[in-house]
Amino acid sequence: MAPVGAALWRTLRAHQVYGANTDVGKTIVSTLLVKALSDRGKVGFIKPVSTGSLDDADDRHVERFTASNGNVLTKCLYQFDEPVSPHIAARSKVTPSDSEILNSLYTSLSCWSTSGVKNAVVETAGGVHSPGPNGNSQADLYRPLRLPVIFVADSRLGGISSSISAFESLLLRGYDIDSVLLFRDDYYQNHEYLQSYFTKRNIPLLAFSQPPLRPEGAIMADSRAQDHEVMEAYYTTIAAQSDIGSLLDEIEQRHVYRIKDLDSMSTRAYEAIWYPFTQHQDMQPKDITVIESAHGDFFQTFDANSGAQDGSDAPVLQSTFDGSASWWTQGLGHGNPELALTAAHAAGKYGHVMFAGAVHKPALTLAELLLKSLGNERLQKVFYTDNGSTGMEVAVKMALRAACVRYGWDSSKEEVKILGLKGSYHGDTIGVMDCSEPSTFNKKVEWYRGKGYWFDFPTIGMKHGKWRVSVPEVLIQDLGEGEEFDSLNDIFDLESRAGSALGQRYSNYIKDTLEQLVQEQGVKFGALIMEPVLLGAGGMLFADPLFQRSLADVVRSNPEIFGTASIASQTTTNWSGLPIIFDEVFTGLYRLGRRTSASFLNVDADIAVHAKLLTGGLIPLAVTIASKEIFDSFLSSEKSDALLHGHSYTAHAIGCQVAEVSVTRMIDMENQGHWNGFKRSWKSASNNSAEQGNGIWSQWSADLVQSLSGAECVESVFAIGSVFSITLRDLDGQGGYTSTAAKGLQQKLANGDAAGRFNVHSRVLGNVLYLMASMTSKPEDLKKIEVLLQGALLGWNCHGTAYPPDGGCIWLHSMIDGTSRLKGAYSSASLASEVPSQFNLIILSSDPGINGSALIATNDEEIDIEGVLQPVEGQETPAIFYFDSKTGRLVTTSETSYQERFAYTLYSNYTSSLRFDIASDISGGIYYPKFTVAADGSFSAGSNLTWAWCPDDFDAGNGYYLPGSITLGAIAKGCEAIDGLVAVAASS
Ligand SMILES: Cc1ncc(COP(=O)(O)O)c(C=O)c1O
Repeated sequence: MAPVGAALWRTLRAHQVYGANTDVGKTIVSTLLVKALSDRGKVGFIKPVSTGSLDDADDRHVERFTASNGNVLTKCLYQFDEPVSPHIAARSKVTPSDSEILNSLYTSLSCWSTSGVKNAVVETAGGVHSPGPNGNSQADLYRPLRLPVIFVADSRLGGISSSISAFESLLLRGYDIDSVLLFRDDYYQNHEYLQSYFTKRNIPLLAFSQPPLRPEGAIMADSRAQDHEVMEAYYTTIAAQSDIGSLLDEIEQRHVYRIKDLDSMSTRAYEAIWYPFTQHQDMQPKDITVIESAHGDFFQTFDANSGAQDGSDAPVLQSTFDGSASWWTQGLGHGNPELALTAAHAAGKYGHVMFAGAVHKPALTLAELLLKSLGNERLQKVFYTDNGSTGMEVAVKMALRAACVRYGWDSSKEEVKILGLKGSYHGDTIGVMDCSEPSTFNKKVEWYRGKGYWFDFPTIGMKHGKWRVSVPEVLIQDLGEGEEFDSLNDIFDLESRAGSALGQRYSNYIKDTLEQLVQEQGVKFGALIMEPVLLGAGGMLFADPLFQRSLADVVRSNPEIFGTASIASQTTTNWSGLPIIFDEVFTGLYRLGRRTSASFLNVDADIAVHAKLLTGGLIPLAVTIASKEIFDSFLSSEKSDALLHGHSYTAHAIGCQVAEVSVTRMIDMENQGHWNGFKRSWKSASNNSAEQGNGIWSQWSADLVQSLSGAECVESVFAIGSVFSITLRDLDGQGGYTSTAAKGLQQKLANGDAAGRFNVHSRVLGNVLYLMASMTSKPEDLKKIEVLLQGALLGWNCHGTAYPPDGGCIWLHSMIDGTSRLKGAYSSASLASEVPSQFNLIILSSDPGINGSALIATNDEEIDIEGVLQPVEGQETPAIFYFDSKTGRLVTTSETSYQERFAYTLYSNYTSSLRFDIASDISGGIYYPKFTVAADGSFSAGSNLTWAWCPDDFDAGNGYYLPGSITLGAIAKGCEAIDGLVAVAASS
């Protein structure tokens, strides 16, 4: 199902009617609106969810009183008979999911937008927070659409309070309220109070006279007729007397301004704003993404191609997957109502309050929570700052002081440097810039003086289905060529690897280098700084965890290298050698699937810095957490020995309170097994049978990593936690930050999936493109992104001029044509000479219902061979073919060659993989093109072959067969069961 985003069209003004409470007269207001709007053109009314008898349904009421001028369309999407709240009424029926409700609502509005309907009124049920069929508040359920609200206030006793409360609930969720309507009650006079309240907030309010009372008791036919007559008269009078015309003019204007604003924002931003990390010289307004709003993992972005000039009926906004998790901050989704409420509560309680020498509950509770839950017993003191850079700046100050105090160095006389890894990034304040080696980021910064030594290090990635530890050229002599592993779990099995030959080489090399630097060159080091596992901004470098672990171990177990000091008592929590700072600004707090990234290395840092995910992505806040011994280095009778550092907004109460809630939520999710589905699927893709539950996993599928790793254009690929990263071969340059190799892929993702109504906003780091999920990302949304990525990435070889002659990847464009078939085809002309000789064909499906369909293979003479597809995983004796998780390939157990073979397998997340072979044989005068199956089960094909996949009863002869095309006929479940189709070159 397509992700649903904000619904906005130039041609259609759609509004949502919310009520301050149930029974405040929403349907009467809707009827009045629809009646008045119908004088201005076609108008649609939708009741997405209705309960109670059909006859009393709100859409019927609206239809009854507005149908006369022929301009009104009415619709109810989901009807439940019981006259109770939808979540109760839905219990006895098959309940549509919230995304189904949203999708059908969006689809209805979208159809109207292209069929001349000028206005639409969407009426909710009950009050603002009345639950929808799945029990979620309507205000949350409909939020992704962000329809402007026509708010029906409550004119009854107590109505002022309920109206203002409901209004604030809508504001808190990011709704815009276009107008307020209510009934005049001359005794309670709510309309007068509310008029003044809403006028101050620039929201027009219109009060109608009270509607006639409905007949009481059993409704007989004649009383129904009488009621109808009375209501008809009421509607006619109000239409004539009230100021509803001006109100409609006003909301029409608001719609015009909303779109005008969006049309002009990029140009105005181009004039007014100096962007971060941006060379403005060649920048154009069109390069600026206009984000209208955001919800969950998606921005709602302005589609500049939506046709400002020609009154186009194209949607003005599109759902754009926030592929960088908004610079790696998002954890609990944009517009998260719980975090918004928490922030509002803290704002109401504190605003911002002074922190030096003071304390407030949010800062204290958060500090205690972090100390308790980060699992590092060294850490005892929490220092607050506002962002990752300042958090790291403080960490460096702490560590250097501790080292100078212990080793008796005078830093005003001799420079104290830091030890780190090449490609590190710790922020953009000048102090932490000095902690990174010279690079594009800092080489033009006038005050930059890199102060350190940075090790080259081996990196991890998958290529051709194998996890590889790649050693950089300059280290091969010392460390060897690297190694291959079956699974990421094996790579993270540090206790076993530490004793290996490679582990020994790492330790020896690190120790030799340090001795040389310190003893021969006289360098003084004051801290070891590392980003555990992933070096983000330096290019998503996945460091071999064993190298990082060895570095920490060598530093700690050889303190004599760095200086001489007599320590009164060396406790298990005191630092040794150098204070170790873990910069977990990016990698911490579940970004990599675990609470801390330090836990992957099994090393307790002396100072840990957390930021990005700390507040779930809502408010800037950072913590630098230090050990007691580091803290003690600042104790003295001199004020000047104290850590003289602080920020105006330090320990911002709103930030701390939001952080406390978001960290708690993420811990809850972990404890409640929220990510178990992802964990299970990675576990089944892993070959490590001993691996028990706490392994390495990602929200991105192992299949994605596997399939892309075979592409010729891909240097390497990996996924861990919420991070997916792909390094593209840079044919023109050397890779790195200045490379433009990933730009093409970025553009393809930005072009998006037209049918699926979404695209992807991504950031690239030279030849690296990465994508990031949040902790709340839905598997089905990520799957869509994966399919888009596979299409975008595996496709360009096929269509580019440089199709690699030695194999590569083929993307088979999937589309549903008029005959409801899904076809994949690539240029038949170039096929014969360019098709790789070995490949696997992967069908992506999120629907297990595709099992049992027949597979029909057809050669270029339209000869069909049929076999039934069957999932083979989990069967004791795999039928002919099975998926070998060791090699990541489909292999056959059949020893018979020169025979037809069909295979279909189902593995994690219903992603299906199929491949089949046809023998070279002359049988009954039929020529079968030649296929061979190698001993390892890999498959070699010549050219001029076609394949089809259909249910038993489908006449495959109707297929559209071109040499080299693939046709998937209508299948038992329908073509919508297929999400994508990829052919991946098998490694030779
Ligand atoms: C590892 C690391 N440290 C520090 C920083 C700086 O954080 P901020 O941008 O919040 O200043 C970043 C930012 O990306 C980072 O990735």
